[in-house]
Amino acid sequence: MKIPQEKIDEIRAASDAVDVISKYVQLKKRGKDYLGLCPFHQEKTPSFSVSPQKQLFYCFGCHRGGDVVKFVMEYEKSSYVEALEQLAERAGITITRTEEAYEAANETEKLYNVMSYAARMFYTNLTKSNEGEFALAYFRDRGFTNQTMTTFGLGYSLRSWESLLKKAQEDGIDPEDLSKVGLIRRREDGSGYDTFRGRAMFPIFNTTGRVIAFGARKLYDDDTLGKYINSSETSIYHKSKVLYGLSQAKDAIRERDFAILVEGYADLISVFQAGTKNIVASSGTALTPEQIQLISRYTKNITLVYDADSAGANAMMRGVDLILEGGLDVHIVQLPEGDDPDSFVQKNGGEAFEELMKKGVSFIDYKASEFLRSGKFESPEGKTEAIRGLVQSIAKIPDQLKRTFFIKDVAEKYNLYESTLYGELEKFTRRVPQKFIQMVKTEVPVEERTAIERKVAVEEIPIEEKELLSAILEDPKEMIPFVFGNLRPEDFSHPSSQKITGLMLNLFDETGNVDVNQLLEKLTDEKEKTAVTDVTFHRYQLGDRWNKIGGRASETRLYEIALGAIKVLKRKYLEKDLAENRIHMKNASVTGQDTMPFLKRQQEIMAGLIEIDALKLMKG
Ligand code: CTP
Ligand code: MN
Repeated sequence: MKIPQEKIDEIRAASDAVDVISKYVQLKKRGKDYLGLCPFHQEKTPSFSVSPQKQLFYCFGCHRGGDVVKFVMEYEKSSYVEALEQLAERAGITITRTEEAYEAANETEKLYNVMSYAARMFYTNLTKSNEGEFALAYFRDRGFTNQTMTTFGLGYSLRSWESLLKKAQEDGIDPEDLSKVGLIRRREDGSGYDTFRGRAMFPIFNTTGRVIAFGARKLYDDDTLGKYINSSETSIYHKSKVLYGLSQAKDAIRERDFAILVEGYADLISVFQAGTKNIVASSGTALTPEQIQLISRYTKNITLVYDADSAGANAMMRGVDLILEGGLDVHIVQLPEGDDPDSFVQKNGGEAFEELMKKGVSFIDYKASEFLRSGKFESPEGKTEAIRGLVQSIAKIPDQLKRTFFIKDVAEKYNLYESTLYGELEKFTRRVPQKFIQMVKTEVPVEERTAIERKVAVEEIPIEEKELLSAILEDPKEMIPFVFGNLRPEDFSHPSSQKITGLMLNLFDETGNVDVNQLLEKLTDEKEKTAVTDVTFHRYQLGDRWNKIGGRASETRLYEIALGAIKVLKRKYLEKDLAENRIHMKNASVTGQDTMPFLKRQQEIMAGLIEIDALKLMKG
């Protein structure tokens, strides 16, 4: 849905970068900027900066940077429009949608709206209808507070064939759309009926918090369908790519740097309510590579908590291998016999659950204990098989160094030669896991590749050129005339700095100034944007003294820095000429040609170099 430009401007104006970002990152004032731990990569010393003047953020470690909208997009993994919507909501700005805009709303948007309509209706049924009292009592009986019911948008579907269908139609919703999201089904004669009838409703949200499906639990004994029925796959709901609870849990997952993975809706809700919020559920499907990928956006550490039954143990074994294949670390927590996370928390409370989480064991210890339990270690054959099982899991880990550590661990624990284990490992590592090949080609590497590209983009540009860009952005009115009195954009050696300086000159012509944000808007290439953000923040490149004088170089100092950089740039240029000229001269002498012109040229260049060295700032 298109948001009008005035609205965008209004939202931006109301979203101060420091204000917004400090909700996500703990920031400390340092000089004129704010500094904190980067939320986009793991680090122990802060390299994430926010500039209140420039309204930009930048990380010196991973080179992510941009304005406040970009920050929200990166952090929430949301689209441009979604990020704006979120900022609008924060600032209390309503984005009015005209009739026309609604018509233009794309199909997906329409389906989201239908889902949110249904979720609101189920919630009203639960909290405001007579029939809903039974369901409300059920939830209360399970220990869910009102707050929890609101947080998870729990609801109730009335026990009738057409209550949702009829009400929705009255409210102008096309039955076809209800059918597209699986809320109604069709009889042979084409007439529709509600999919969920007389059930406790658990909305399933996507990461940006929109309802995309429902899980529905049986409440009545005469209900002949399964304990849970779930929405079918639709264009907005792909089971294998969704994790229940993620939208509520993601902040806590990031903060605590691990995600707890459980099986059921009720498990998740109970644990969350008890205070452990970094928890997601795979809900009704076996864990998939896509789900692991989803978690890996927030953390690389997963703790699996499965029911202590044999189905749970099997699911766990498969889950462990998938997580390892995805390059994440996994710990396993065993619940007492007969408990699921929900019942455990109801019985023992949240603190006991937290204690239990600390008792997570590595996948090796878990697998070994499973083998032990099944009596595998009792015979030499069984033991061989068990060790092979361990190595097979180790082989799934993409990181070779990590594999080495785990092999060492197994060798020590079972008193085996590492070389023997490596022999085994060899057998398994030759195959690349199929499931991940596709993902590696698409999702993961895009992230990683762009991170590398960003780094290269920044590092490729010679320091003196970055110093000049930096000096210009610091004081465009003084620096533009000075720098371009001595250089032309094409004198810059790097294509990005040529492009950027060209645009700087244009902006200066148009506005008499060079505003970073305007400059960023003019740039389309992500790498060039990164370079500009980098030089805006990399003031230390302008020399150590910069910081000592409170983050602002005195004017003279700025001229000195710029002059120094201009000298380096010019000198490099001439030195290249000199080297080329030498080659020509050598060739000439070898082939018996006249070397005189080259000698003359050499003298000119030398004189030029001396001239450059003599360049000084005029006093006054
Ligand atoms: N599930 C499902 N369909 C079923 C049974 C289970 O989709 N017929 C999914 C649900 O997401 C459920 C999870 O598998 O939450 C775990 O199932 P189970 O352990 O049987 O149920 P609990 O989560 O313990 O459910 P409850 O506590 O409500 O009985
Ligand atoms: Mn349960």
